[in-house]
Amino acid sequence: MAKRKPLIAGNWKMYKTGPQAGELTGRLKSLVSDVVDVDVMVAPPFTVLGVVAEILKGSGIYLGGQNLFWEAEGAYTGEISAPMLKAVGCTYVIIGHSERRQYFGETNASVNRKIRAALVGGLIPVVCIGESEAERELGQTFSVVQEQLEEGLEGLISDDVQKLGIAYEPVWAIGTGKTATTDQAQEVHEFIRGRMGTVYGNSVANAVRILYGGSVKPENIGDLITMADIDGALVGGASLNADSFAAIVRSCVDSVTDKA
Ligand code: 13P
Repeated sequence: MAKRKPLIAGNWKMYKTGPQAGELTGRLKSLVSDVVDVDVMVAPPFTVLGVVAEILKGSGIYLGGQNLFWEAEGAYTGEISAPMLKAVGCTYVIIGHSERRQYFGETNASVNRKIRAALVGGLIPVVCIGESEAERELGQTFSVVQEQLEEGLEGLISDDVQKLGIAYEPVWAIGTGKTATTDQAQEVHEFIRGRMGTVYGNSVANAVRILYGGSVKPENIGDLITMADIDGALVGGASLNADSFAAIVRSCVDSVTDKA
């Protein structure tokens, strides 16, 4: 069957003030607004979501949050909810990024609560999973990924699971310049899709987009996206520059249309 429509998502992390975000978004809009074969999403910091949303109007580029809290509102100083992200124009939300797990104590249980809140709020979660370097060296990649997946998605119904994006981001490849080889990435993506099939059935497994993340650049996306189970990328550093992010999108479009 045909592969899923790719999604190229930019995770800006804790970069860009208002004017910088405006400049980046304006340039990106001029470079990729015509793209229809690939979905494009940017996830800026909360403080500039409004600015970016305004510029993206009419562009077809989707907006995403980098995180959320699971309550809809309340006395939770410093937190942002799904309805707030929705109201500012977000379609997607990144959940359980390894940096949140590593520095802010997020667990598979909190990831589960956040996924549920995102779905209730009408957002599409992009759920991040991936092993550390030490875990890979110990041969634990599959067991770590399986546990993150099963505990993170625990109790969700198939109808909800098929809406999700999953981002496989090996921690050792994030911001290090070390990309997983296409075979290393494909092997884990295939494993993830296989687990989804076992737990939720083949139609769910075939619907879920599995993105790769970790030092994705214009030079490596073309090979990654041709792999059977790689449906796009979650891009950090290279998404902070409109030209490099647009080049990633273009390369992905070329690979998709070559194969069509
Ligand atoms: P880099 O692309 O900078 O390695 O970051 C990947 C990432 O963490 C995206 O969420």
